[in-house]
Amino acid sequence: MNSLRVLGGLILAACAFGASAQSYPTRPVTLVVPFAAGGPTDVAARALGQAMEKSMGQPVVVENKAGAGGTLAVSDVARATPDGYRILIHHIGMSTAPALYRKLSFDPLKDFEYIGQVLDVPMTLLVKTGLPVNSVKELAVYAKANKDKITLANAGLGAASHLCGLLFQQAIEVDLTTVPYKGTAPAMADLLGGQVDILCDQTTQTIPQIQGGKVKALAVTTTKRLDALKDLPTAAESGLPGFDLAVWHGVYAPKGTPRPVTDKLNASLQAALKDPAVVKRFADLGAIIVPADKQTPDGLARHLKAEIDKWAPIIKKAGQYAD
Ligand code: MLT
Repeated sequence: MNSLRVLGGLILAACAFGASAQSYPTRPVTLVVPFAAGGPTDVAARALGQAMEKSMGQPVVVENKAGAGGTLAVSDVARATPDGYRILIHHIGMSTAPALYRKLSFDPLKDFEYIGQVLDVPMTLLVKTGLPVNSVKELAVYAKANKDKITLANAGLGAASHLCGLLFQQAIEVDLTTVPYKGTAPAMADLLGGQVDILCDQTTQTIPQIQGGKVKALAVTTTKRLDALKDLPTAAESGLPGFDLAVWHGVYAPKGTPRPVTDKLNASLQAALKDPAVVKRFADLGAIIVPADKQTPDGLARHLKAEIDKWAPIIKKAGQYAD
């Protein structure tokens, strides 16, 4: 009798969950950003969230949960109730974390439902205006001669700015002192203030600063020049052959989120990426909306797995780990 009652309760609970999944969302959805407000991931999340509200019929509220190179937020969402009300936007860091952290409290390949890929964002290598260098070659020479004096800012182990800095130091064969922040928004504030010397960061934050003459841009990290900064050479053109880095972004929900909910989130994501205001905003910031076949759960799952496999040996060679 007791077991019948328990079974009945479970069936009722499952039906209620199913019904609430069908009517999802009935309250605001929180989109967790793993870095500080005002930075590139935050900028992308806010543009996307605003557009997603139109098809979700509910507010999409951005929450910045910064720390540990983005891994705090990923753990948080991995453990959230799988009901679609707490979801995550994260970038390439989702694929580099397994190689960078000896102990990781989440598994990118097991703990999430994939909603879809969003953007590819080139990065730019910047120095503070007072640094006496005007090209990557000059920076390489200067960095070698002053390696104990100059500093490279990043947003912690696992951040895109960390990865770019790692590749840059490898390419010029010099180890610099790095200064970790909770996001590249505070890192940029210190670059503008002259407290740090170098920052490699996504165009979604850097284009306005470069166009305003507030920082010196030395190179773009992709193999193609940017439409918004046509005079800025690529890293490869600047003497770093093979340097090619764009920061991809994806949206995730906790594992076990019901299919009607992930379907709704994916439809809303895809609609947002067609929204003319979003298309213009991202184009102005040098961000490239991924093709439609990547804006899918399968597209994101495939890309994530390929990226984990791609970065593991590169990071292992660089010998950078956290416990
Ligand atoms: C940010 O949003 O602050 C950046 O994406 C951090 C980073 O990955 O460099």
